[in-house]
Amino acid sequence: MATIEEKIQKLKRERGAIIIAHNYQPDEVQAIADFTGDSLELSRKAAELEEEVIVFCGVHFMAETAAILSPEKTILIPDRFAGCPMADMITDEQLREKKSEHPDAVVICYVNSSAAVKAECDLCCTSSNARAIAASVPADKEIIFVPDTHLGHYVQKELGREMIIWDGYCPTHSRIRDVDILRERAKHPNAKVMAHPECPKQIRDLADYLLSTGQMCQHAKESDETEFIVATEMGLLYRLRNENPGKQFYAVSDRALCPNMKKINVEKVLWALENMQYRVTVPQETADKARRSIERMLELS
Ligand code: 13P
Ligand code: SF4
Repeated sequence: MATIEEKIQKLKRERGAIIIAHNYQPDEVQAIADFTGDSLELSRKAAELEEEVIVFCGVHFMAETAAILSPEKTILIPDRFAGCPMADMITDEQLREKKSEHPDAVVICYVNSSAAVKAECDLCCTSSNARAIAASVPADKEIIFVPDTHLGHYVQKELGREMIIWDGYCPTHSRIRDVDILRERAKHPNAKVMAHPECPKQIRDLADYLLSTGQMCQHAKESDETEFIVATEMGLLYRLRNENPGKQFYAVSDRALCPNMKKINVEKVLWALENMQYRVTVPQETADKARRSIERMLELS
């Protein structure tokens, strides 16, 4: 009898589909994915793929970004309740109100936001290019940065430039405590700390490197360092360990789990391909406006 993985591969061929997965996906999902990456890498991939059907293993805003960039394609998310709490911390209505208080400001939205919010923005960014995107804004312009307060404050500090920052946050990265870093450092004195800029300030201040998940993979591969404490969602350890068998990676805390990323599993991927569900679509007017902010980001990074 065919295994789930074999059934997925067969159906994938029949449907002309490709499976792409975020770095936080469960190990079993990353193992069957054709491509795994961070938010920026997945946006780029979604824009250039030839396949007609993309099974997007990640959270809803990521699949929505793919639907905005490729409106002619069928984008499937295997669990329609896989959302991102941070993305839900701002609505388009709230953003319009903030914009009305600062009518000349340039609005930058972290990719972890809804299509409706992206449609209200001038520029989109991810954790790997937020600094460069904000730096591209003329110095005499105010910047409104939504929705992640931690990424916003990281960029503000890097650029030495005041921004109007929304107070959204990632519940998963907020569960990482400074005592977790101090404990792991004491256990592994030679290890370098790689932290995600979605982490709160006390964690960012203790980190050796602040990197997106894709940049962590690249740094781990290219650097001579051999031991790392990884301060982000634990799913990334799968890739780090697979790609660097001679190096050691320590999870900062077993509470650094994103329950939404973990809603997807191989059974649901098979179900998605069998039933061509759940289709992620964005109303055309919203998609057309949101696409501009994403395409500007892709041009600048
Ligand atoms: P990156 O993969 O871009 O580093 O983002 C992490 C994240 O939390 C996405 O939700
Ligand atoms: Fe959202 Fe945080 Fe989960 Fe990323 S890790 S999808 S920001 S809740």
